[in-house]
Amino acid sequence: MTIIAKSDQTSALDLESEDSKPHSKISIKDNSYWNNFYSSKNVPSIPSPFATSILSSIDKSKTLVELGCGNGRDAFYFARNHIRVIALDLSKEAIHINNSFQHDNVKFVQADFTALQQEFKNVGNVYSRFTLHSVDYESYQRTLDWCFQSLQKNGLLFLEARTVNDPLCGVGEKGEYKGEWITTHYRRFMEIKDVMEDVQQRGFELLHASENFTDSWYGDDHAVVYRITAKKIE
Ligand SMILES: C[S@@+](CC[C@H](N)C(=O)[O-])C[C@H]1O[C@@H](n2cnc3c(N)ncnc32)[C@H](O)[C@@H]1O
Repeated sequence: MTIIAKSDQTSALDLESEDSKPHSKISIKDNSYWNNFYSSKNVPSIPSPFATSILSSIDKSKTLVELGCGNGRDAFYFARNHIRVIALDLSKEAIHINNSFQHDNVKFVQADFTALQQEFKNVGNVYSRFTLHSVDYESYQRTLDWCFQSLQKNGLLFLEARTVNDPLCGVGEKGEYKGEWITTHYRRFMEIKDVMEDVQQRGFELLHASENFTDSWYGDDHAVVYRITAKKIE
């Protein structure tokens, strides 16, 4: 399937699936979990605390690409706040539901964000919330490479994901690699210092990095997260 999305800030997006592209096997395995999750209707639709906290830092004159948008809670929030958004998710169900709520500023596309190549150029903002812990270490590294390559100079990167201090780290079946734990689905917990290093090594300047112990709680899920804002300085 080929999906073309045009915007004035990005080149044509051609997400034709090719076996030769590296994909996240974990994400493909978890895909039915996420499809069921988004069909369940018990998904929060209010914007995440991370989205509201970074809204004023986004370069609103430029498109924002969201990696793993889920039910679009943050994509719609950014769109309502006059930001042009291209929001990607692997879940066909999520994209189908999101597309039934139209907003001129947002385009939803089913895609594996770990398999992106040259589809976007000169992106102004990349946003990823609770998705980098959903992919294996190699896919995470590939995604950071893609972020650096696709952002324009002074482009901004916004990341939030679970750290090793999250109470779910250590719950479920232990995965094969560092920080991996599997319950109903896969999670990979990281130390914030490692993410900061991975981001800086690629040529980003850290504008903000913090570990947040309370702001991302939702119901019984007392998530502990890293929050990073970085600028491509090269
Ligand atoms: C924990 S949810 C977060 C959703 C949303 N960002 C939010 O904060 O509500 C993780 C999302 O990442 C998506 N996802 C996981 N791996 C993916 C991949 N490789 N490519 C695209 N989406 C992916 C899942 O389908 C799911 O919607």
